Amino acid sequence: MLSGKTILVGVTGGIAAYKICELIRNFKKNGANVKVVCTPNALNFVTKLTLQNLSQNEVYIQEFDVKEWKPEHISLADEADVMVIAPATANTISKIANGYADNLLTSIACAYNKKMIIAPAMNCNMWNNQVIKENLSKLKSRGIEILEPESGFLACGYLGKGRLCSLDKIYNSVVEALSFSEILKDKKVIITSGGTIEDIDPVRYISNYSSGKMGFAIANAAKSMGADVVLITTKDFEAPYKIIKVKSAIEMQNALNDEFESTDIVIMAAAVADYRIKNYSENKMKKSSDDTLTLEFIKNPDILKELCEKKSNQIIVGFCAESENLLENAKEKISKKGCDFLVANDISRNDIGFASDDNEVTILSGSGECKKFSKASKATIARQILEYINE
Ligand code: PMT
Repeated sequence: MLSGKTILVGVTGGIAAYKICELIRNFKKNGANVKVVCTPNALNFVTKLTLQNLSQNEVYIQEFDVKEWKPEHISLADEADVMVIAPATANTISKIANGYADNLLTSIACAYNKKMIIAPAMNCNMWNNQVIKENLSKLKSRGIEILEPESGFLACGYLGKGRLCSLDKIYNSVVEALSFSEILKDKKVIITSGGTIEDIDPVRYISNYSSGKMGFAIANAAKSMGADVVLITTKDFEAPYKIIKVKSAIEMQNALNDEFESTDIVIMAAAVADYRIKNYSENKMKKSSDDTLTLEFIKNPDILKELCEKKSNQIIVGFCAESENLLENAKEKISKKGCDFLVANDISRNDIGFASDDNEVTILSGSGECKKFSKASKATIARQILEYINE
C-alpha cells in the first residue's frame, strides 16, 4: 500500500518514543521507505540500533554529520512524501511553530513544505499550557495536521489528556495524506460548514447540532488536492486557506454571493436554518406571566437553490441531513434544489452525522446515479466525495 513512498519519521524525547518502533515496523511491512530522524533526547527512550533495524535505514541525529554535498536537512526534506513527528514533545512543537532550527529534526521541519503530521504526547498540564496551545494553533494554521493526544493514565503518574494517540490513527493519517493527487489544482472550491445561528434577542438564538467538522474535512481535502479553498463557516477553524466566519443564513448567503462568480465548485455542507425569527428583539425579552411563548419565524432564503438557479459552469454539491427515509427524501431534495450532486447524511445514528468524527453517506447525482460511501473518518469521506464529483 505504501510502496514507492518515503515516510520521514521524526522522534523526539518523550516516553512514548518506544511506541514508534511498532509504527515504523508497520510502515515497512506495507512497503514504505522509512527514514528516521531523532532528536538527541529521543535516544534516552529508544535506541538508535532499534530504529535502524526496524527502518532498515540509517538513523539521522546530528546536523553536521554531513556525508553528501547536500546537507541532510535539505535532502531528507526533499526526499520525503510525508513527514510525521511522533511523539512530538512540547519543546519540539514550540520550536517548529516559531521557526527554530537548532537540531536536525527542527531544521528539516523548517525546510519541509509538504504534508506534515504531528502527534503530540506530554504531561496534561503541559498540554493545557496556553503557550503550547498557541503554538499548536500556529502549526494548524499552516496546514500541519495535529493528531491530538488521548486522555488516560499518563506515564508521569497524572490522569489527563496527553497520551500519544493510537498508532492506528497515526498510520491511517499517513496513508490518507499519501492518497491525495492534485486533481483540483487551479480550481477554486468554496465549502460551507457549521450550523447557522439565528438570533432571537441579544441573549438567545436558534441553531442546530452541526459542528462544522464535515465541511472542514472537505476544505482540508480540497486543499490537499491543490485547490484554492474558501471555507465559509459558523465555527472557529485554523487552516492555511481563506476562512470567512459568518453567523446567520443571511450572512452565509452574502459571503457566498461575494465569492461565487469566480468559483469552480461549491459544496454546501453547512446546516442552514430554514427559518429565522420574524421580529428580532433589540433588548432581552422579558419573562411574562404566560405559561407559553409563541415566536414567529420567516423563511430564510434557500441559498443552495438560488445558487443553482444562477450558476453558469460551476459544479454545485448540496448536502442533506435526514432522520428518516434517507434516499427518498434525498431524491426529492436534489430535484427541488437543482444541484449537480447531493450528499445524503443519516442523522438518526449517533456514530455518524452531526459532530462525530466519522460519517457514512450516499451521493446522488443529477443524472440519477447513487453511490454509497461506507462508514469512515470524515477525512476519508471528504476525499471520496471530491474524487467522485471530479470523475
Ligand atoms: O457539521 P458536522 O457536525 O460535521 O455534521 C455534518 C452534517 C450532518 C451537518 C452535514 O454532513 C450535513 O448533512 N449538512 C447539511 C445539513 C442540512 O442543512 O441539510 P438540509 O437537508 O436542511 O439542507 C439541504 C441543503 O440545502 C444543504 O446543502 C444546506 O446547506 C442547504 N440549505 C438549506 C436551507 C437553506 N435555507 N439554504 C440552504 O442552502
